Amino acid sequence: MKILALQGSPRRQSATHDVLQMVLNAARDAGAETELIDLCDMVYFSGCNQCEACQGHLNEPGCVLPDDMQQILRKALVADIIIWATPVMNFSPAWPLKMAMDRMSCMLKPTERGGECVSLLQGHKMAAVIITGREDGEGAHLVFEMSRHVAESAKAKWIGALIAKEAAEKAELLAQAKAFGRQLVA
Ligand SMILES: Cc1cc2nc3c(=O)[nH]c(=O)nc-3n(C[C@H](O)[C@H](O)[C@H](O)COP(=O)(O)O)c2cc1C
Repeated sequence: MKILALQGSPRRQSATHDVLQMVLNAARDAGAETELIDLCDMVYFSGCNQCEACQGHLNEPGCVLPDDMQQILRKALVADIIIWATPVMNFSPAWPLKMAMDRMSCMLKPTERGGECVSLLQGHKMAAVIITGREDGEGAHLVFEMSRHVAESAKAKWIGALIAKEAAEKAELLAQAKAFGRQLVA
């Protein structure tokens, strides 16, 4: 089983990165092959400009933007599970992750005008790791719902999210992350 994890915090010293790494360690111990990509390390990376060129390529992503997202699209096609990992920022995913999510829309292909889409990610699975800074965790449920909808529209199976607090004790984060990592592989 291959897991591709896209980490969306815009900073390098990132709580999201650390928790995600713990999740992937547990998944790897349970037998998965894992890859973590910190989107903030991508040099050339832009958002979807809705040029719709991808819609003319039914059997491949077909995105024509010549940037680092191309390799992620190729990796996503062969991943069994895609993890969206992000801090909550203004009740939303952080901007690097939102950009990657938008770019992943090239996987959706039209059948007929206004008809249901075909998805190149059909049958894959998606999950999320969501980190909150606020004590009340306000906004995490919105990121959860947004990620779940992204999975649904990609016709991927939603397998849930780990929502954790940045300020939680390391031992507590580790326990949560281990449980979630094992759940991904089960
Ligand atoms: C611009 C901005 C907006 C934020 N908005 C929220 C928010 O709506 N809810 C929340 O719980 N935390 C919010 N936070 C706090 C971050 O989610 C928190 O610090 C997180 O742990 C950062 O993750 P990172 O270390 O991976 O970058 C915000 C932080 C910033 C900088």
